[in-house]
Amino acid sequence: MGSDIRRVMVTGALGQIGSELVPRLQRLFGTQNVLATDIKEPSSDYSGSYERLDVLELDEVRNLVKGYDIDEVYHLAAILSAAGEMRPDLAWDVNINGFRNVLEVAREGLTNKIFHPSSIAAFGTETPRLNTPQDTVLTPRTMYGVTKVTGELLGKYFFDKFSVDVRGIRLPGVISNVAPPGGGTTDYAVEIFYEAIKKGSYECFLRSDTTLPMIYMPDCLKAFQDLMDAPSENLKHRTSYNLASLSFNPAELAAEIQKHNPQFTITYEPDFRQKIADSWPMSIDDSCAREEWSWTPDYDLEEMVDDMCFILSARHEKGEI
Ligand code: NAD
Ligand code: SER
Repeated sequence: MGSDIRRVMVTGALGQIGSELVPRLQRLFGTQNVLATDIKEPSSDYSGSYERLDVLELDEVRNLVKGYDIDEVYHLAAILSAAGEMRPDLAWDVNINGFRNVLEVAREGLTNKIFHPSSIAAFGTETPRLNTPQDTVLTPRTMYGVTKVTGELLGKYFFDKFSVDVRGIRLPGVISNVAPPGGGTTDYAVEIFYEAIKKGSYECFLRSDTTLPMIYMPDCLKAFQDLMDAPSENLKHRTSYNLASLSFNPAELAAEIQKHNPQFTITYEPDFRQKIADSWPMSIDDSCAREEWSWTPDYDLEEMVDDMCFILSARHEKGEI
């Protein structure tokens, strides 16, 4: 991991990923060098620099990047897959026009580097679902997926045309224990832990055999940093890296949780998110990420479940959840 100090701004910083990315960046670069922003208000005890920012307001994005002399932007503000199917117009606006504003500020030379996550939602039913290749058919079935493919292309265009250094990963579903997920199809894989600990049972909105690619938050954050620190000349797929870590279905995850809590029960009540999940890959070929910036995950399913159960049980005992 690079040790040079950069001044970084995070958009969508109060979401699932931003809530853990910001403290990590604060440890890495110093709290004074990290600006967290979101359209929401933070809690009264929020630690570090915070500014309210709607990424749809170009002048506000520009003023903050300029005012804080930002070197890098981690652009996390977005509307996710399930929420995006409820509000496709909003998903297009935030995910495309919000990103376009960040790109524009970089094109003006006000910041050097942008991290912009894509997603497994970039793929569709025509894509091979097992060991999905890096370069393959991209025919997403959700507005969220449409914005992710467009975002990959927009980032690449700004790199090719204006030398804006944009980097991105097609993230699998992220599993974490700090902030709840924000309206995605993979959210079940987080909710299940909270419900297992609080109630001992969970009603899953996907079928038991729905295998999806997933990643544990520590590996997700490691991937962000490894890609941001990689030499630019190595990056042939710079805005759209396939990333693999875990692949499992709800029944397999439940069985792993039952090793910690044998009384835990799961039932299945698939809803509209099943169709979205059925259009996504089951496993991913991430050989380009491994070759071009040495990606390797640390956690397997058992280790992730051990860690999640340990951390959330401790939070439950303290009355936090
Ligand atoms: P999240 O929904 O938890 O957080 C998104 C944040 O964006 C929220 O805090 C929200 O308030 C903020 N936001 C929404 N509209 C905004 C606006 N107009 N201006 C400023 N902020 C706004 O999402 P997340 O899980 O943290 O995801 C972050 C990024 O990672 C997104 O681009 C998402 O597509 C991508 N991603 C996430 C996952 C996952 O499983 N979490 C998987 C693949 C890709
Ligand atoms: N976890 C995300 C979602 O389900 C995938 O991008 O929307």
